[in-house]
Amino acid sequence: MKRNILITGGAGFIGSHVVRLFVNKYHDYQIVNLDKLTYAGNLANLKDVENSGNYTFVRADIADLDDMRRIISQYKIDGIIHLAAESHVDRSIKDPFTFARTNVMGTLALLQAAKEYWESLPEKYDGKLFYHISTDEVYGALELTHPEGVAAPFTTKASSADDMAYGTEFFVETTKYNPHSPYSASKASSDHFVRAYHDTYGMPTLVTNCSNNYGPYQFPEKLIPLFINNIRHNKPLPVYGKGENVRDWLFVEDHARAIDLIFHKGNVAETYNIGGFNEWKNIDLIRVIISTVDRLLGNPAGHSERLITYVTDRLGHDMRYAIDSRKLQSELGWEPSLQFEEGIEKTVRWYLDNQEWLDNVTSGDYQHYYDDMYTAR
Ligand code: NAD
Ligand code: TYD
Repeated sequence: MKRNILITGGAGFIGSHVVRLFVNKYHDYQIVNLDKLTYAGNLANLKDVENSGNYTFVRADIADLDDMRRIISQYKIDGIIHLAAESHVDRSIKDPFTFARTNVMGTLALLQAAKEYWESLPEKYDGKLFYHISTDEVYGALELTHPEGVAAPFTTKASSADDMAYGTEFFVETTKYNPHSPYSASKASSDHFVRAYHDTYGMPTLVTNCSNNYGPYQFPEKLIPLFINNIRHNKPLPVYGKGENVRDWLFVEDHARAIDLIFHKGNVAETYNIGGFNEWKNIDLIRVIISTVDRLLGNPAGHSERLITYVTDRLGHDMRYAIDSRKLQSELGWEPSLQFEEGIEKTVRWYLDNQEWLDNVTSGDYQHYYDDMYTAR
């Protein structure tokens, strides 16, 4: 079936994997990638699909309502997968306003533009979907009731052989929102607006909340790519606090596969949590990264452990995130494709093989290149 799908934030980390999957898999779809190309967005992430006939890139800011109206009607958009956001907690602590502007006002502008366009059509909302990508961070923080870890009560392919849980509670779809950081507060607000457009105007919307992603093309300000890059350059590895915080990690391509499945088979107005039951204490994860990088670089085992540097904790640092994704598994049959050890190995290899990408995205040159190429209208 022919469709015109708008993917926002497609030049970012997760968005680029979603765009690649859709462009390669759905030749009948016209995929419009809408991205502002902030520091986090790079068209280099999509080099392999940029010349595909079913792919178009549009540089725009989701917070610009007139632009959203124009683009949605120009491309006759009938489905939206909304990933564009400011996504880094540390930046949100320094500059919360940018997060409110993009994540809250931007999502609202996109919702309003889609509503106006879809309501203007004879078939209105039939066959349309506004799919909003959110995070498990909106649920707040879970307690570390088992700091040393206990055998995990649930398991999927994503978890490791000796998988652990660090508490008894997990985030489920009905967990009350309790965001703590400006980032998670802005995402929570955007989730509420999306659901409000369904409840008030009958707009077909859907929200998913995913755990921490890792994999190729992640901007090297986030833990995993930052640490791989720092180890390679013999730079300190800044561990916040005691390194005891727990995150639940999912390989980015498995998130993209879940998004594909949910976009096509998910029920309107539902929420699905996405995660692989794969909890890691930061310091344990950091040791896995160090040993993998050292091995692949031919360094003696433990060589880079000396780079571990404990630094002042992040303000309001959430202790533990852990997703219960059994609804998605049982209702839609999703399961991750990779074990964590395989995913980390693939990821470390990718960053070591793509030093040029790392150098480019951190150099600022790309930003100027985009600014010259897509001058403001
Ligand atoms: P990212 O920071 O790598 O990419 C964000 C993209 O959005 C960039 O390409 C950027 O240029 C674009 N963008 C930012 N502001 C924009 C604006 N005003 N208008 C248009 N485009 C804009 O983020 P990511 O890690 O790929 O996350 C994508 C989405 O998934 C976000 O909504 C995030 O909240 C959510 N999420 C991320 C994770 C994770 O671990 N990274 C986990 C769960 C959910
Ligand atoms: P991050 O990748 O920023 O993701 P999030 O904050 O969305 O979970 O951080 C993952 C964990 O690693 C988090 O507990 C903070 C910690 N961290 C460090 O200890 N040092 C760092 O330099 C970074 C970026 C993160």
